[in-house]
Amino acid sequence: MHNPAKTLKGILLAGGTGSRLAPMTNVVSKQLLPVYDKPMIYYPLVTLMQADVRNILLISTQIHLSNYQRLLGTGKQWGIQIDYAEQQSPNGLPHAFTIGADFIKNESIILLLGDNIFFGDNFAHHLAQAAASSSGATIFVTHHNQPSEYGVVELGPGKDILSLEEKPACPKSNNVITGAYVFDSQVTEYAKTLQSSERGETEMVDLLRCYHKQKELFVKFLDKGTTWYDTGTPQMLLEASLAIAEVQSARGRIGCPEYTAKSKGWI
Ligand code: TTP
Repeated sequence: MHNPAKTLKGILLAGGTGSRLAPMTNVVSKQLLPVYDKPMIYYPLVTLMQADVRNILLISTQIHLSNYQRLLGTGKQWGIQIDYAEQQSPNGLPHAFTIGADFIKNESIILLLGDNIFFGDNFAHHLAQAAASSSGATIFVTHHNQPSEYGVVELGPGKDILSLEEKPACPKSNNVITGAYVFDSQVTEYAKTLQSSERGETEMVDLLRCYHKQKELFVKFLDKGTTWYDTGTPQMLLEASLAIAEVQSARGRIGCPEYTAKSKGWI
């Protein structure tokens, strides 16, 4: 018998404003928009499932939550458990950990942003491995030619972290932080201490700095075989759709919860 309550936990963050995708997001939640042949949220959901996460909290805004519930249900059909929580306004990514404090309890948590798509051989394995480690936080980083659109981490020669900045005008490196994070249970306490930035949101880099101060922030580069898309702009949404169409015609479908559930023996 499978017991989802005893498995790894993950949060899917599917709120936000989606202003860069307006007017498409004026009435539809960004993470419900299609990426090729599926709603965007299917891809990070499947990434969590591939990492053996069977206990999932989906967070979205009040007006959109019911649509996620209609789409994904309880998760039972895929052998997982999906719970839902509301974020009243888009106060920032770390808010996920105050909303999700009762869900996280004293366990590790994987956070995937609902508009981030990862595919490739080992990514889910690395996520699961990081979640299994006893303490600290892990970020997943890759080189990008437009780092100022993202969180940026500057590394020293020994791969030690020199700085962490959110959307810097003059980035100190091109190592960008992707939308996949693993935290130990201290995250709920650290998240409570954060102040809003000039953007009016609490910032993920401030949360990461809390771990960095304790020398407990770990950086993992995405493998060469892992592809990452942040689908928050029309151009990236299009590019992700085209890439998925191509991958699927070469290698078969990806981002299918039912397929993953079957291959794991959960249904
Ligand atoms: P962003 O893409 O940074 O923000 P956004 O979705 O509001 O879009 P835009 O900048 O175009 O207005 O958010 C990254 C992901 O995190 C995305 O999936 C939405 C989600 N999110 C929340 O769920 N709550 C929040 O408070 C924020 C800021 C983002």
